[in-house]
Amino acid sequence: MQLDVVTLFPDWFDWFRSQRHVANAARQGHELRALNPRDHTPLSGGQVDDTPFGGGAGMVLRVDVMDAALRAFYNTDPVELRRERRVLALTPGGRMLDDAFVDELAQEPAITLLCGRYEGFDERIVQHYASDAVSIGRYVLSGGELAAMVVLDAVLRKLPGSLGHADSVLEESFSSALGGDPEYPHYTRPADFRGWSVPDVLLSGHHEEIRQWRRARSRERGAAGGGSSLA
Ligand code: 6GU
Repeated sequence: MQLDVVTLFPDWFDWFRSQRHVANAARQGHELRALNPRDHTPLSGGQVDDTPFGGGAGMVLRVDVMDAALRAFYNTDPVELRRERRVLALTPGGRMLDDAFVDELAQEPAITLLCGRYEGFDERIVQHYASDAVSIGRYVLSGGELAAMVVLDAVLRKLPGSLGHADSVLEESFSSALGGDPEYPHYTRPADFRGWSVPDVLLSGHHEEIRQWRRARSRERGAAGGGSSLA
């Protein structure tokens, strides 16, 4: 899979690229590139953003700059690009990222993530160049980069070979194997710590009982609505 991020802060992705599961994915032939629109801006002094029409705070990434950048990266008119690959504009008002959306993206041969900065994008970037607008939650980040890393992390760990155990993505929180419910609780050694013991069934070696116990805990958590139930 080819994963491209269009960002004014490509260095941020050096750290991300060095994480083990990302490095593993790279070894499997997946490619993560961070492309900087500032390298291709037609404006003087490396300008990429401008004040919003109508007034207001902050700066907005210019549509002509994004056009020039995408043209340079892909050697095509960027209005055509979204017919060839998913082009995701990261914006707090977009479609909420969830496991089903991540599965959808993990099937793609190539995706491009557009990061806005400051007050975001000129809306024409989203309208004409993006196939999807994506949000990672109902709060505002100061740029799309962290959201892009969240999307990339969630997608990359679904790709074969990026995790140690291929099984670990099948039966994890919100997967269809768990009926969309959160994952069941995990325990490891010591079996008793400060009087806090591990459920007996997990130490029993009865695989079918363990499976049923886990499914039941997962359902309970799902029914609880995903909120934490910490005392
Ligand atoms: Cl995708 N971008 C920004 N800037 N803030 C967000 C977001 C995205 N998703 C949630 N908050």
